[in-house]
Amino acid sequence: MIPLLSNFGDRFSGKGEMARGELMKKLLASYGRDDEFRAVAEQIITEEEAKNNKVLARSLRRSLEVAPPKASRPKALASLIPFPEAAGDFIELVEPSHNKQDIILSAENTRIFQGLLDEFRRGEEIRRRGLSVRSKMLFCGPPGCGKTLCAEIFAAELGLPLYVVKLDRLISSYLGETATNIRKIFEFARKQPSVLFFDEFDAIARARDEDGEHNELRRVVNSLLIFIDRIQPKGYLVAATNLDHALDAAIWRRFDEVVWFDRPDQRMVARFLKMKFKNVAIAFDPADHLDELQGHSYAELDRICVQAIKAAIIDRRKEVSGSDFKHAVADEQRRQRRTRRVTSA
Ligand SMILES: Nc1ncnc2c1ncn2[C@@H]1O[C@H](COP(=O)(O)OP(=O)(O)O)[C@@H](O)[C@H]1O
Ligand SMILES: [Mg+2]
Repeated sequence: MIPLLSNFGDRFSGKGEMARGELMKKLLASYGRDDEFRAVAEQIITEEEAKNNKVLARSLRRSLEVAPPKASRPKALASLIPFPEAAGDFIELVEPSHNKQDIILSAENTRIFQGLLDEFRRGEEIRRRGLSVRSKMLFCGPPGCGKTLCAEIFAAELGLPLYVVKLDRLISSYLGETATNIRKIFEFARKQPSVLFFDEFDAIARARDEDGEHNELRRVVNSLLIFIDRIQPKGYLVAATNLDHALDAAIWRRFDEVVWFDRPDQRMVARFLKMKFKNVAIAFDPADHLDELQGHSYAELDRICVQAIKAAIIDRRKEVSGSDFKHAVADEQRRQRRTRRVTSA
């Protein structure tokens, strides 16, 4: 257990100080995990300051500040084709800031993604035999259960850049130009090996449902679906939606693979808490709280953990206490009682 908060209080008595060797080990272990790396580096600097090694501390801090703020870049990033003009308003290049240790996946989804990665790596051979590589995926499930996170990590694992398509903007853009913009995006995806991510794909389903007067809109949505049908992306096309059952077959059948992201069951909650508190000293057993956490999404659990950790920092305590955690759970539940009725987030 690494006391992340150990540098609070008792600073000059040296009581809060961590063994140098431990810190060094921790620093090396955090390689490639930017947030963690920074937290440990901060800790080293704070300890040097406490020991009155001001010059060293200042110089370390300067080095830390010039270090790039993002986590490791995708492995074999292909050279990037510039966006077609105009499409820049609708697609965004997202730098990955998570890796596969940051996501909790069910055994089933782990198997699916491993299969997709294997297929991608043997793509040449598969195509040579006249077979196609699965490349269009639909992610379904309630909000906050890892659809966006998984798209990011999947792209990072493949070493492909992730482009997020801002569908709501695309659809609400001046209709006369939307079709042209869609064509540009797909032109781009045909040439640029990438993961092209259509987040909030529900926008499409909703637009299809709208009636009569929005004929023009429906035409655009249909042309987007036809494009999805026809494209053989150089990489992947991933769409994510919160509404699983509301999608009609016309949408489903366009995808090679449909992946569900469900709310975590108790075992997954336990895994998530273990991951979250991996580098934090805690004075309680997360296993005692599994009952009350049932039904929460990962995003909600994440918020609970972060609030509990912050409470300890604010109080300058070295450990997150059981009551920090309890309060954070109560706060999240209060928030939900007020919001669940309005949104499903
Ligand atoms: N399966 C998961 N494992 C770990 N953390 C998760 C998971 N799902 C969600 N989270 C946390 O919740 C946040 C929001 O999740 P996100 O992927 O945006 O959900 P979705 O796209 O399904 O609405 C993530 O950034 C992460 O902190
Ligand atoms: Mg999302």
